[in-house]
Amino acid sequence: MIDLHTHFLWDWDDGPDDRSQALTMCKIAEKDGTKAICLTPHIFRSNKYGDDLSILSQRMFEFQDKMRDAGVELEFHWGAEVFVHAEVVRAIEKYRFTIDETSYVFLEFSSSGVPVGAATMLSQLMSKGFVPIISHPERNRGFAARPELLFEFVAMGCAAQLTAASLTGELGREVRAAAGMMLANNLVHIIASDAHRALGRPPGLSKAVEAASKIVGEAKARAMVTEVPQAILDNKALPDWGEPQNPLARQSWTRRLIGMPRRPTRPVQGEGEANGKRGQRQDSSRTTVLRVK
Ligand SMILES: [Fe+2]
Repeated sequence: MIDLHTHFLWDWDDGPDDRSQALTMCKIAEKDGTKAICLTPHIFRSNKYGDDLSILSQRMFEFQDKMRDAGVELEFHWGAEVFVHAEVVRAIEKYRFTIDETSYVFLEFSSSGVPVGAATMLSQLMSKGFVPIISHPERNRGFAARPELLFEFVAMGCAAQLTAASLTGELGREVRAAAGMMLANNLVHIIASDAHRALGRPPGLSKAVEAASKIVGEAKARAMVTEVPQAILDNKALPDWGEPQNPLARQSWTRRLIGMPRRPTRPVQGEGEANGKRGQRQDSSRTTVLRVK
């Protein structure tokens, strides 16, 4: 399995405080069957050094060296979780906060909602060759209450990632219901741990895959931690799982009126061949300042 969204880097953001905690997290991930992790430290939020990328770069080299010395066999990839703010398009264009040298970039909206102008911001990024991956929309009050916004963004060509703990219910019933609804409507593509700590927010994907299997079938659930993240690391198009569904289209008029999240729909069994258009290979000459491999 590949864990595409994690915070294993110590002393940068709200991830582990020190090297030994980071090492414990690596061991937990390995034990759970994870073969590769992508480190996606926070940018423009929750970091201790004011987005000083030279410090981030140092931390990344140090992380890789120390984990290797300690016998960690995980494959490491590098990206970032970029917090959405007024200047986010310019910042991504300037610093290329993408995953490795791909076109894919994680975007984190404030958990309180989806800002006006989000669609414009996303289409600007896409017109510049980036493929936004929306981090954990199920934990965003705006997307949970108005999933048609996520439908709109995914229909535009964005990808979206669920947090493993959302699917297992560790983040509460409402978050689990939102995650299930997004899965059932073909609005999400990746499951990742978003791990921050060995205790509290630990790594691990297998339980979430089990939970997702009950909604979309085992093949699709497994693809969300294998085939899809691998396609992203290879800068290829994501598997074509058919059109995303607008959850609002199946809501009663009363729910539409009051904008309430509805209960998850019945499972849609897994399907999919890797020939979709989402994330079709872009200019592979793009580089990221975060690449250290
Ligand atoms: Fe995160």
